[in-house]
Amino acid sequence: MTRRPIGIILNGVTGRMGYRQHLVRSLLAIREQGGVPLDDGTTVWPEPVLVGRSETRLREIAERHGLADWTTDLSAALARDDVKIYFDAQVTQQREKAIRQAIDAGKHIYTEKPLAETSSGALELARAASAAGLRTGVVQDKLFLPGLRKLKRLIDGGFFGRILSVRGEFGYWVFEGDWQPAQRPSWNYRAEDGGGIVVDMFPHWQYVLEELFGEVKAVTTVIATHIPRRVDESGNSYPATADDAAYGIFELAGGIVAQLNSSWCVRVNRDELVEFQVDGTEGSAVAGLRGCKIQHRAVTPKPVWNPDLPVTENFRSQWTEVPDNEEFDNGFKVQWEAFLRHVVAGEPFRWDFLAGARGVQMAELGLVSAREGRRVEVPELDR
Ligand SMILES: NC(=O)c1ccc[n+]([C@@H]2O[C@H](COP(=O)([O-])OP(=O)(O)OC[C@H]3O[C@@H](n4cnc5c(N)ncnc54)[C@H](O)[C@@H]3O)[C@@H](O)[C@H]2O)c1
Repeated sequence: MTRRPIGIILNGVTGRMGYRQHLVRSLLAIREQGGVPLDDGTTVWPEPVLVGRSETRLREIAERHGLADWTTDLSAALARDDVKIYFDAQVTQQREKAIRQAIDAGKHIYTEKPLAETSSGALELARAASAAGLRTGVVQDKLFLPGLRKLKRLIDGGFFGRILSVRGEFGYWVFEGDWQPAQRPSWNYRAEDGGGIVVDMFPHWQYVLEELFGEVKAVTTVIATHIPRRVDESGNSYPATADDAAYGIFELAGGIVAQLNSSWCVRVNRDELVEFQVDGTEGSAVAGLRGCKIQHRAVTPKPVWNPDLPVTENFRSQWTEVPDNEEFDNGFKVQWEAFLRHVVAGEPFRWDFLAGARGVQMAELGLVSAREGRRVEVPELDR
């Protein structure tokens, strides 16, 4: 089978997402499976070029995985003819500048979310890339989670009847960093460094809601910084200036109401770190990262409110697990494969910079709502 090697810059590969999900679980996993097969019988073969700030860490990652191509010089990597794609998993604040450089160098671009810090910045990137004839993509990994794929299957199969509402709980306790190290990077808790849970999670909620249930027409958000001081990676105490919890209501086209809580200050009493309950006239479902359970109208029990009696029913046992019925691969890898087919074979790919800009817009408007204490309508983005 003919291999079609394609040079891909991975900028920010020393970070959590860049290393684990994008290098190891996506591009190296694609190489392990023999590349991405195309309809013409050839295969796309990713050739990662590791880019970052620390020589030591880049060399260490390269050696660990038998790779030879790494550099701290982004401009030199962008100048190479064999490099066709620029990928960015840096901290969010560094993204816009680097993507501009990649556009000027004529590379196709794939990036972690959020695409930029402001929707105007994101739209400018979308326009500039489109004017230069480049193909673009933004990570929307949640769409490929087994739990959400099962939910989509239920929606497509008409299981719910008319969908009424969506309730989502996302979050877990992120340690403050004093007596136990925090399990997320400290920049997430500093607004001045691009942190905050709205900026982090609302881009995800935007595409999840839009793809599964309908366009978001209005958003109302209350945010909080519940933990005002944290301790960073070096053991220094710092003021947490960013929101660490967001309580959002999203009004969707067609009248569906979605209420999504996002929090790094909540202890998990759920089956998974994220769960969405969807209630419809014909049935309901609760989907997590992997699992999805349902209760149909015909088997819905009839609880009667009576605080004088102990609970007589085990409500959790009244749900039925949705079967896999297919194999679910890593979501980041599935989206990478789609992007590579888009770049090399021109296959359609709808999660482009414009889609990414809508995610940034949702975060921006969520923060406006919180700041001004009001419901904010979501205008269509002017491309
Ligand atoms: N899709 C998802 O589910 C998901 C989850 C978490 C994070 N993210 C996104 O991925 C990106 C990276 O997040 P992460 O959690 O991997 O962060 P991280 O702190 O672990 O990694 C950040 C990377 O950026 C690099 N970097 C470049 N310039 C920097 C600077 N000036 N200061 C600090 N680091 C700099 C670091 O060296 C490192 O490689 C963010 O944009 C974040 O929004 C996406």
